Amino acid sequence: MEHPYKTALITGANVGIGRATAMDLARKGYRLFLAGRSLERTQVVIDEITEITARTDAATFLHLDLSDLRSVKKCAETFLDFALPLHLLINNAGLAGAKGVSAQGFELAFGVNHLGHFLLTQLLRERLQSSAPARVVTVASRAHRLARDGISWHLLQSPTRSFTGTQEYAQSKLANILFSAQLSKKLMNTGVTTYSLHPGVVDTEVWREVPRFLRPVLKLRKMLTPEQGAETALYCALRAPSQETGLYYDSCQIKKPTHHALDEEQAIQLWDRSLQWVSPFM
Ligand SMILES: NC(=O)c1ccc[n+]([C@@H]2O[C@H](COP(=O)([O-])OP(=O)(O)OC[C@H]3O[C@@H](n4cnc5c(N)ncnc54)[C@H](OP(=O)(O)O)[C@@H]3O)[C@@H](O)[C@H]2O)c1
Repeated sequence: MEHPYKTALITGANVGIGRATAMDLARKGYRLFLAGRSLERTQVVIDEITEITARTDAATFLHLDLSDLRSVKKCAETFLDFALPLHLLINNAGLAGAKGVSAQGFELAFGVNHLGHFLLTQLLRERLQSSAPARVVTVASRAHRLARDGISWHLLQSPTRSFTGTQEYAQSKLANILFSAQLSKKLMNTGVTTYSLHPGVVDTEVWREVPRFLRPVLKLRKMLTPEQGAETALYCALRAPSQETGLYYDSCQIKKPTHHALDEEQAIQLWDRSLQWVSPFM
């Protein structure tokens, strides 16, 4: 059956960069699936999209809690049941500074920012391939530079240790870049291309879990609006050349990430371990 609209699934689209990304794609005529923790907090975005597109099916909520792999599986199944193509998967949701473990016992930032998205992408991979040309865009961060020792494998299955959660956030964002690069290799010649990116320093709610005394310091930096912060994700989703698959972007340009993010051995190890960890949910 012919589908009149291109379809995109975005995680964490109720606020911030994800919301701005969703609004732009809606204006461009995409049919959107907004995956997040709360229908109540996403409804305002759905209402806005319905209004600007004058289409009641322009945006659909999918329940997704990335900190629980059971929820990730349910979210993917719900989407697949719509029997629609998937042209764009935007792995945008993320947290910084929150501490603890995911439902399956992974360090919280790693579990949410990397492992939840890893499983979601695996479960949607076939649909992406059958919808090609398609893209997977993963919102990483320049903060991956702070992961100076690469991935600390021995700390991934225990609660967040650092006081501010910065180290763990940095590692999860390094994992985003390694994942996107490795995914491009797995998807070579399928018509599905992958991109990771730093959105800039953006005035969003992402800092809400960082210790209170640090927040004014963070706010001293010049920040982009969420709409400006969505520009690189949108560039990767819509305009970046497909032959540039697997690369990392900043300010709508290819950027070289740290040597850890280019370490193929680490990328393979992350892929293999992640696959093993999510296998009970596949
Ligand atoms: N802002 C920046 O300066 C900056 C810089 C570099 C990278 N980034 C990255 O940009 C992305 C978007 O962040 P943002 O700045 O737009 O922050 P934000 O406004 O806090 O948005 C984060 C989104 O992630 C969702 N989320 C958090 N935990 C989740 C979970 N367990 N399951 C499902 N969704 C979850 C949030 O949902 P709830 O509303 O339910 O919490 C929210 O929709 C993140 O990956 C972040 O790491 C941001």
